[in-house]
Amino acid sequence: MISHKNFKLYIDKNYQTVCKAAALHIVSHVKTTPRSILGLATGDSPKELYKSMVFYSQTMNVSFSKVLTFNLDEYIGLEENSKDSYQFFMNEHLFKHLDIDLSHTHFPLVHQNIETSLRHYQTLLETHSIDIQILGIGTNGHIGFNEPGTPFNSKTHIANLTESTLKNNQKHFKDQAHLPSQAMTMGIDEIMRAKKIMLFASGKHKKKPIDDMVNGPISIDFPASILQTHPNVELYLDLDAAEDLLKLLEIE
Ligand code: F6R
Repeated sequence: MISHKNFKLYIDKNYQTVCKAAALHIVSHVKTTPRSILGLATGDSPKELYKSMVFYSQTMNVSFSKVLTFNLDEYIGLEENSKDSYQFFMNEHLFKHLDIDLSHTHFPLVHQNIETSLRHYQTLLETHSIDIQILGIGTNGHIGFNEPGTPFNSKTHIANLTESTLKNNQKHFKDQAHLPSQAMTMGIDEIMRAKKIMLFASGKHKKKPIDDMVNGPISIDFPASILQTHPNVELYLDLDAAEDLLKLLEIE
């Protein structure tokens, strides 16, 4: 582990290794705090983490039955139960492999009245304090779907997805005829209220965003840069994603 500014860095050539370390930390937290509140992300970055969380929950015999979860975001405009939804993703990659109570898992409710739904998620996040927030990072610096230009004091809102986000995410869609252009996302203020943030990234396409997040100016033009002001943030990176960051650390 290396400390740099307010960030704790866990870096390994093998992404699986850092994800295992993170999973062990989270499952141990749930063991000692069965009513843990977890903030969860989807996408490629946390898949390996979730696989290892399932492994440790089984081998360490840790129950998730009292855990509460809040997902960062959900697409708008997909059919209910769509295989492209983030709810489906979470069931496939994590929930169905744990003894978690599905009524304890929360998503922005995109199939109900939007205004009511936004208020509902905002209230839930005001009244529940997230212990550990899992994050990935977009190549444009988004966290959740807080795209560049989103105010740092934002709460749960509707985001218009940028060209770069649409392009990056298109490959994941099973139904290429119905690509959503909007999502409901936790706001930056709600993400920043988490007691601990664990951000995951792998691959060379993440090396610049990771470096900009840690060393660039703090600006709404690069939303993840706000993490420079969080007191407890850990980065789990493979060597490719850490490349630019490590170059700089050697120069220092
Ligand atoms: C997903 C999310 C997004 C992703 C980001 C990186 O719930 O909120 O911010 O974390 O787009 O995606 P991947 O991990 O697929 O590169």
